[in-house]
Amino acid sequence: MDGIALLMEEHQKILAFGNKVLNSAKNVLEGGIFDIEEYRNYILFARKYADKHHHGKEELILFKIMQEKLEKIASKVIQNGMLVEHDLGRLFINDSEKALNLYEKTGNSLDKLLVLTNICSYVELLKRHIEKEDKVVYQLAKRHLSDEDIRIINEKTKDFEEQSNISDILKLI
Ligand SMILES: [Fe+2]
Ligand SMILES: [Fe+2]
Repeated sequence: MDGIALLMEEHQKILAFGNKVLNSAKNVLEGGIFDIEEYRNYILFARKYADKHHHGKEELILFKIMQEKLEKIASKVIQNGMLVEHDLGRLFINDSEKALNLYEKTGNSLDKLLVLTNICSYVELLKRHIEKEDKVVYQLAKRHLSDEDIRIINEKTKDFEEQSNISDILKLI
């Protein structure tokens, strides 16, 4: 198993999910139905797939090994860039969910707006984040990690995949 290639494949799924969210939000703005359950599923996908499954492998495997083995500059890019952006993504998703819960109770349009703005900000953040990982961070890993480090990443990725069940989550989008 090629751990970095798998992360790049997952980026494509996350981008496809992002496009779906943006199109749905555009449709709502144009007067379409705002379906609360649909947005609950987007939030669930962001948490279970993009965060737990994908960011999980980055944080527990690839980035961890990069921070241990590469020069300080790589560690800084990960710590101050990638990990901060993962946290910002979590904040957008939490705020989108809070607004969704309020909207369900009150039907207030301001809460509906905050669901959409937070989840669209999340998608735009991840688009830029993924581009940086594909073009810079993963390339750093490929160029500078040893064959043994890459072998460990691939092995740990295989174990991670065997322990996670994402088939139900992928059906959400
Ligand atoms: Fe990431
Ligand atoms: Fe990523």
